[in-house]
Amino acid sequence: MTQNPAILLENLRKDYGDYHAVQGLDIAVKPGEIFAFLGANGAGKTTTMKMMVGLLPPTEGRVLIAGHDVWKEPRQAKRAIGYVPDTPILHELLTAQEFLWFMADLYGMSRSEGKQRATELLAMMELTHAADKLIRDFSLGMKRKMAIATALLHRPPVLMLDEVTNGLDVRAQREVKDLIGTMASHGAAIFLTTHILHVAQELADRIGLIHRGRLICTGTLAELAQLAGKPAGNLEEIFLTLTGEEAPVPIEEAVSE
Ligand SMILES: Nc1ncnc2c1ncn2[C@@H]1O[C@H](COP(=O)(O)OP(=O)(O)OP(=O)(O)O)[C@@H](O)[C@H]1O
Ligand SMILES: [Mg+2]
Repeated sequence: MTQNPAILLENLRKDYGDYHAVQGLDIAVKPGEIFAFLGANGAGKTTTMKMMVGLLPPTEGRVLIAGHDVWKEPRQAKRAIGYVPDTPILHELLTAQEFLWFMADLYGMSRSEGKQRATELLAMMELTHAADKLIRDFSLGMKRKMAIATALLHRPPVLMLDEVTNGLDVRAQREVKDLIGTMASHGAAIFLTTHILHVAQELADRIGLIHRGRLICTGTLAELAQLAGKPAGNLEEIFLTLTGEEAPVPIEEAVSE
């Protein structure tokens, strides 16, 4: 039985003037699948994600989310999307629960539903103890978890995460990775960008390598290893071979970031 893709990119392109930032992407992600879009700084990951969530108009091509064209049926498509941008914007002078109530209101939830969902999400993020604390006083990891909680408020079937583990310590990274795995096991399609090899290696069912705006190849780690003629254990070697370039941030540096 074939499953309709939750996310479908067709010939997606973006030019900034005469610079071809993203060049003809074709990608499909199924419900329950974790797809990692892996590439070096400036490869075109954020540009792609902004086109996928309706923030940046494509030069050509289209994006379907749960069967809806992001640019032609924005309401239906966006209802299905939970998005965590690379630099999340939170209202620093609200408490964690006030912010979630406020966002639930924007999503059109009733006050009681919003309150219940906020309580659930704070517990899921292990932030219950900080529910009444101002977001201004949160650590980076706590803020990142708040951004994830906000993206999950309306129970979206599609999650888009731009460099979601950046700046997190080892423990917070582990929590976020576990959470992503849980969301996928509940059927969410996850599209995450990363320049960090071990994030892609650990989390993804499939990896797409983007290099200078082009999708070089897509596959499981084993498939990429085979393509590169390298052992599957060494994603750095695989990345270097397939891109013919410098590897992105190696594991040791990424952990201390
Ligand atoms: N608004 C813009 N105008 C012109 N060029 C842009 C604009 N936004 C991005 N670019 C360029 O497009 C290319 C891709 O940028 P993008 O932010 O998508 O990369 P990225 O893969 O997300 O990188 P990083 O890992 O650093 O987040 C870069 O060369 C960047 O300089
Ligand atoms: Mg980026």
